[in-house]
Amino acid sequence: MSASGDNARYGIAEFIAEVKGLVPAGGDDPGAAGREAIGERLRRLARDPGILARTGQGTARQGTHGMDIRGGEIHKEPDGTLALMLARFPHEAETPVHNHHSWGVVCVVAGRDRYIHWRRLDDGTRPGYAEVEVDWEKTLDPGDVVHFAAPPGDIHSQQGIDAPVWELVFFGRDPNVKPRLYFDPQARTVTSAEAIRP
Ligand SMILES: [Fe+2]
Repeated sequence: MSASGDNARYGIAEFIAEVKGLVPAGGDDPGAAGREAIGERLRRLARDPGILARTGQGTARQGTHGMDIRGGEIHKEPDGTLALMLARFPHEAETPVHNHHSWGVVCVVAGRDRYIHWRRLDDGTRPGYAEVEVDWEKTLDPGDVVHFAAPPGDIHSQQGIDAPVWELVFFGRDPNVKPRLYFDPQARTVTSAEAIRP
């Protein structure tokens, strides 16, 4: 078996080395096929014992979206590209509907996730106003992958099913360098806030 076979160690360093060959310069969106290819590698990384060992109950709260979301960034290039997160999302409440300023790929490591992708319908020209509707919804089990395109295709919400869910999330660019957009589908409003608010 070659060094890239299933029995070889495939950790964060191996994953990042491979995705460097898949992501365009500057962290631009590689398109659906590229995101699928990254998803295959993220699925492999999700089985790494080193990743699983990080999903313990003692993981510190990061406070993403002001919620009890734990974990956070485990890799980022000096220029802010290739940002890899390992995070625990609660089951008690759904995240708000939010954007990321980046395309991304998600793989569940442990637990189950109700994942909802949203689509923005208005043109964004009216301050504070936004219309969003559910584009698709999936139940994700460990090893399941979803991906989303660059803005405006980067809007989602999610919630653990019956228990917290741990996920690897890979972004072309660090999603936290500027405030995120938060959408209220019923009120048809959009607000802006820093994602990390412990
Ligand atoms: Fe998100």
